[in-house]
Amino acid sequence: MHAIIINETGGPEVLRYGEIETPEPGPGELRVRVAYAGVNPADWKNRQGMLAMYRPYVFPYIIGFDAAGVVDKLGEGVTGFAVGDRVFTPTNHGQGGQGSYAEYALAATDRVAHIPDGLGFAEAAALPVAALTAWQGLFDRGGVKAGQRVMIHGGSGGLGSFAVQFARWAGAHVAATCSTPNVDYVRGLGAERVIDYRKEDIADALAAWAPGGLDYLMDAVGVSTLPNGLDLVRAGGTYVSIPTLNDDGDIPASMAASAAKGVTREFSVMTDVGSAATLAQIARLLAEGHVKLPPIKEYALRDAAEAHRQIECGHTRGKLVLKVADL
Ligand SMILES: NC(=O)c1ccc[n+]([C@@H]2O[C@H](COP(=O)([O-])OP(=O)(O)OC[C@H]3O[C@@H](n4cnc5c(N)ncnc54)[C@H](OP(=O)(O)O)[C@@H]3O)[C@@H](O)[C@H]2O)c1
Repeated sequence: MHAIIINETGGPEVLRYGEIETPEPGPGELRVRVAYAGVNPADWKNRQGMLAMYRPYVFPYIIGFDAAGVVDKLGEGVTGFAVGDRVFTPTNHGQGGQGSYAEYALAATDRVAHIPDGLGFAEAAALPVAALTAWQGLFDRGGVKAGQRVMIHGGSGGLGSFAVQFARWAGAHVAATCSTPNVDYVRGLGAERVIDYRKEDIADALAAWAPGGLDYLMDAVGVSTLPNGLDLVRAGGTYVSIPTLNDDGDIPASMAASAAKGVTREFSVMTDVGSAATLAQIARLLAEGHVKLPPIKEYALRDAAEAHRQIECGHTRGKLVLKVADL
């Protein structure tokens, strides 16, 4: 099959379009013929070698977590899926498998969901990592509820675009930060207070919007951009950071300071294992119109390096996807 293959870690130039053996699904796995692969910041960090703490790098290596396409082959014992089904998945990449920047990718069925009618492959490929991370950080680890005052730091990115909307859907009041060009966009996602971090002081803005302190804070950008996060959360509230690998600060110190204040502190890494039900729920919210897709920019698979230069800049509005095949 064709794939974007790396033989060393490094800059975008290490991404090479080439050929590699097509993988065979093992027991409990599906082989997906990929229509679109999603692009996430984790992909450029992985390309640079920053995921070494999670996995050894064995070359030739295919990066990429997210895929949408059709089921092409069933591994032994697979039920609930048939060849030809339209599916989306974070694949087996987070558990050490090859990635999704390829014509075929493998995924254990516990992390695969059907794409509902009305949702295309490009849109579905934009979902897994960003939407799952937002959902798990808000609800599974954060317990966000209706009526709470919630702030999403980084409301215009892939993750933030979903987090703002999920929190609104759950009935929370939502504030979110973004830069000046994204203020109208984030307001359109449903944030009731949009804080332009280039023009406003975040703490001052929140002191007026949530005088008693936030019930919940999600930092989806990095600690250097919100060093006073704990001050913004009320005692008894919850402060969730999405680990960035390059701007997470002193995690044990942050946990200790939060405990001393009585704030629940989580560093919420996306869980792919067993995520199928959440993926299906997210797809339903989209299909029923409760949640809108963020803008999606498409690149050809061969142009993965260009997509990486864009995602690496840290100021992408919405999501990027790679077109792999016309299915
Ligand atoms: N550990 C995990 O499981 C996991 C999973 C998913 C994501 N992540 C991490 O979470 C982070 C966000 O992911 P993503 O997919 O949303 O990235 P993204 O699509 O690249 O979005 C990044 C966003 O950050 C915003 N931003 C940059 N500087 C900011 C600042 N000073 N204040 C507020 N917002 C700022 C940008 O908005 P403006 O252009 O408006 O500034 C941009 O929209 C990344 O570091 C990613 O690696 C971790």
